[in-house]
Amino acid sequence: MLAGKRVLLIIGGGIAAYKSLELIRILQKAGASVVPVLTRAGAEFVTPLSVSALAGHKVYQDLFDLTDEAEMGHIQLSRAADLLVVAPATADLMAKMAAGRADDLASTLLLATDKRVLIAPAMNVRMWQHPATQRNLALVQGDGVQVVGPNAGEMACGEFGPGRMAEPAEIVAAVEAALGEGPLAGRHVIVTSGPTHEPIDPVRYIANRSSGAQGTAIAAALRDLGAKVTFVTGPAAVPPPMGVRVVRVETAAEMLRAVQAALPADVAVMAAAVADWRVANAGAQKMKKDSAGRAPQLEFAENPDILASVSRGVPRPALVVGFAAETERVEEHATAKRLRKGCDWIVANDVSPATGIMGGAENAVTVISEAGAEVWPRMAKEAVARRLAEKIATEIGALVP
Ligand code: C5P
Repeated sequence: MLAGKRVLLIIGGGIAAYKSLELIRILQKAGASVVPVLTRAGAEFVTPLSVSALAGHKVYQDLFDLTDEAEMGHIQLSRAADLLVVAPATADLMAKMAAGRADDLASTLLLATDKRVLIAPAMNVRMWQHPATQRNLALVQGDGVQVVGPNAGEMACGEFGPGRMAEPAEIVAAVEAALGEGPLAGRHVIVTSGPTHEPIDPVRYIANRSSGAQGTAIAAALRDLGAKVTFVTGPAAVPPPMGVRVVRVETAAEMLRAVQAALPADVAVMAAAVADWRVANAGAQKMKKDSAGRAPQLEFAENPDILASVSRGVPRPALVVGFAAETERVEEHATAKRLRKGCDWIVANDVSPATGIMGGAENAVTVISEAGAEVWPRMAKEAVARRLAEKIATEIGALVP
């Protein structure tokens, strides 16, 4: 259940706010403690007194409450919880979240947090169906925010359709899922992602075109199944997911150290595009043009192979998954790579420019294991990530029950 979990509950200004009082009670029955935040509009629908009495905790309302700033501060408040829940999430709150605004306590907490966020939208049907709200919904979901509801039904305003806030019991079920009660609960997974940067001198580097999109989606999908994720990322183009431990690195050598420091793990997924070579004679100072016009000579040294060293190292994760970006004879090369690196699975894809996969939104992969090759249809990188996370959950459940 939710024993020992701390939920920061933001109550927005909608008629559904009365259901949030019931939500507080059910969350507490499930073992969670609730720290309530009431927006200015929320306080028009439920009183601070009933919220704090039910929660058994002071209700926070104002960003500029100096006592709170001295005692705790809005940053700590946003991070001390295990999960932020917004119920009801009004159209206005969703718009603020989508735009990254921070003009009151609730929106500031939502922007400052490093924890996962679950919203339960509630509004008039037309407001929900308005393209602006749907656009904001897509934006916040893209940022990793989870959504429960809204349900269709009769509304307080007399109209009918989607817009009713999810029932408190449904919200609690979503809270349990968001807090990692899934099939990977209690499992530690290391995910590497993004490119590496190998310095030439203090201002120049060698890199590759990896955006980190697939690795980021995989980390998010594993998190959604309840895993504790350590996300070791090179300088990627996409931001890291919420609700995972992020370790930022630049070079392959740093990535190896970060991965080793994160062990032991049940699963390692190495989706990073690690540079095979680094510059052995990288300059301590910026390289200057030679007066005779000669081009500098870079010498290369081989980088450590992180995947191979994790696959053959101790302690070895029970399941090690590597990636193979190929431009021809994908299955053949990837099958050989699986054996060479000593990993359990290789997720292979064709990154030749015609596929548009490198840096694109979709991926078409073949998963190679001892059992052979599974060809998956082309789909969104998020869909590949979800399917891979499910496969990992099934496998690890069988390997280490
Ligand atoms: O050999 P190649 O780079 O094609 O292998 C790709 C796989 O190996 C990926 O899983 C990548 O993360 C991993 N790799 C690594 N360390 C390297 C090179 C690749 O972990 N130095």
